[in-house]
Amino acid sequence: MDPEASTAARYRAFAEVEARGMSATYEAWAAGVATDAALIELIEELPVAKRQPNLVFSAARFQGCPLGPYAVFREWLHRHWIEVRATVLDHATQTNEAGRCALHLPVLARIPGPLALLEVGASAGLCLYPDRYGYRYDGREPLEPSDGPSPVLLDCETTGGVPIPSELPDVVWRAGIDLNPLDVRRADDLAWLDALIWPEHDDRRARLRAAASLVAADPPRLVEGDLVEQLGRVAAEAPAGATLVVLHTAVIAYLGEEAKRRFVAEVANLDAHWLSVEGRGVVPGIAAREDVHNASSDFVLALDGEQLAWVQPHGRAIRWIGTP
Ligand SMILES: C[S@@+](CC[C@H](N)C(=O)[O-])C[C@H]1O[C@@H](n2cnc3c(N)ncnc32)[C@H](O)[C@@H]1O
Repeated sequence: MDPEASTAARYRAFAEVEARGMSATYEAWAAGVATDAALIELIEELPVAKRQPNLVFSAARFQGCPLGPYAVFREWLHRHWIEVRATVLDHATQTNEAGRCALHLPVLARIPGPLALLEVGASAGLCLYPDRYGYRYDGREPLEPSDGPSPVLLDCETTGGVPIPSELPDVVWRAGIDLNPLDVRRADDLAWLDALIWPEHDDRRARLRAAASLVAADPPRLVEGDLVEQLGRVAAEAPAGATLVVLHTAVIAYLGEEAKRRFVAEVANLDAHWLSVEGRGVVPGIAAREDVHNASSDFVLALDGEQLAWVQPHGRAIRWIGTP
């Protein structure tokens, strides 16, 4: 979304491009804000970077805003603006979607293990447990961890000959870096992660709870800091004898152009594989295959800088374009 655009234009674009077909509630709220001068005035009290519809709506729901038509949202927001503004100012969009592991798995399973996983922009670290979740590709028999069925079952549709593995990778080390690591053992952090999930996505909400319980029982090492600054230091902690994989999903768009270039150069310098799942055009040097049909919101999945698939950003579908 263009940060230079007017608030009305940002909310209108959010309604028409991001929310349509994904959340009827957010589509209605964002379309309503786009034509509501009084609410726009409130939202413009926030710094430009904090005016994102997703952040404002999540903060309202975190503070107890009921789901309902725009008129109800509008009236509620006027009454609770002070609390919502405070929440917006000290929170960020840190959606952590375990379902993305269904995107990572076919690639991780092809890398000789055992694996050491380092996720940059890890949020609460839910994507660091690909070996602990169950996977059901195209409704087939689920692929489960060797010690029994997982409480988290990830459904994913595939096309184009995705190389679906027959077993889960052996992960011997996992660590994450985040500007603000969240801790699923803290009720407030979990409530924030819940509020970040869009209203109608009840399957994702149930998955968050299940994945959070699993992760809370064996929490990951999460380092607080900037991913460019911390990458080399944390990567050096990976055990010898394991294959290091640096991965990230829906993170690099948060970096400025210079930081993006530094990050790509840092990853290239490591003795590691690099699994990137980001919007098209977001990562310098990763060219998207525009010749293959794809939905405009699909992300580019790339290994070591080469695109292998187009993927639905929350992990619901993979369209493979690499060698099967
Ligand atoms: C949208 S969330 C995605 C979380 C996780 N990768 C997932 O896919 O579920 C983006 C995360 O990147 C983190 N982040 C953004 N810029 C960062 C930076 N420069 N260094 C470290 N983390 C960063 C944010 O704090 C946030 O937790």
